[in-house]
Amino acid sequence: MIKKAVIPAAGLGTRFLPVTKAQPKEMLPIIDTPTIQYVVQECVDSGIEDILIISGKGKRSLEDHFDKNFELETRLQEKEDEALYTHLKHIENMANIHFIRQKELNGLGDAIYHARFHCGQEPFAVLLGDTVIDSVIPVTQQLIDSYEQYGQTVIAVETVAWDNVSRYGIVGGDNLSSRVIRLNELIEKPNREQAPSNLAIAGRYILTPQIFRALEKTPRGKGNEIQLTDALQMLLKEDGITATLIEGKRYDLGNKMDFLKTTVEFALKRQDFAAEFEEFLRETIDRLDQDRKEH
Ligand code: UTP
Repeated sequence: MIKKAVIPAAGLGTRFLPVTKAQPKEMLPIIDTPTIQYVVQECVDSGIEDILIISGKGKRSLEDHFDKNFELETRLQEKEDEALYTHLKHIENMANIHFIRQKELNGLGDAIYHARFHCGQEPFAVLLGDTVIDSVIPVTQQLIDSYEQYGQTVIAVETVAWDNVSRYGIVGGDNLSSRVIRLNELIEKPNREQAPSNLAIAGRYILTPQIFRALEKTPRGKGNEIQLTDALQMLLKEDGITATLIEGKRYDLGNKMDFLKTTVEFALKRQDFAAEFEEFLRETIDRLDQDRKEH
């Protein structure tokens, strides 16, 4: 049984400056809902209600978002806006959310190490706070199913273009089933020739408490940070690790282009926006085509 989840959300978000100078990238909205709310919803939809968010400097709004806002609720009640009022109540009661601050930004591995007392001897899920995965079955649930079957650390992977393998952590191993691989290799950002596959780590994990021992021994790696992939590599030698090929589409909201694409795709799926927004997109493309013909 996986009962706890850890959401690292302390990072600086340098790829999304300047907006991330004074606000967390995890609060950037997909239309009207912050990224972190989708991530918390994925935990809840996977049966996890005990969530530890790794927060840090300049991230207070993450706590405020999941807190009660008495003034706002009173105003909505006065306006008799039942739908929004209910939505706000839902956010504050979504889950049992705890926060811990990562005082120095020493990398994702270090962020997860901050969860050692909260998670104790239990396996736990990790969901990157800037990554949303759109799927029918929540991806964390897909990983839990795999953990329950194989009893080992699980890493979510997705297929990426061979030309892009050098941007990701890439896994290699033997197939246990059509979607599960027993790993024998884990390489951070390999070049195309080195890459054992085009399966990339996708921002979701089920980790066992053994990860904390590995993280203690992990030296600073790329960017002078404690890298989770380095700790997993160490663990791979002592313990089994499986990778699950996820069914779903991943959006990295820490990246400006992915953020734009996510906004468009999600707007086209929203009943309250789809028709008007599609019309706007079609008109925009027609105008672009027209301009190109004329110039
Ligand atoms: P990223 O590497 O995408 O976050 O980490 P970053 O460091 O903010 O990114 P850039 O490159 O500067 O834009 C993935 C997740 O891990 C968290 C981030 O908040 C993000 O959700 N993280 C990263 C931490 O919690 N602590 C860290 O020290 C680093």
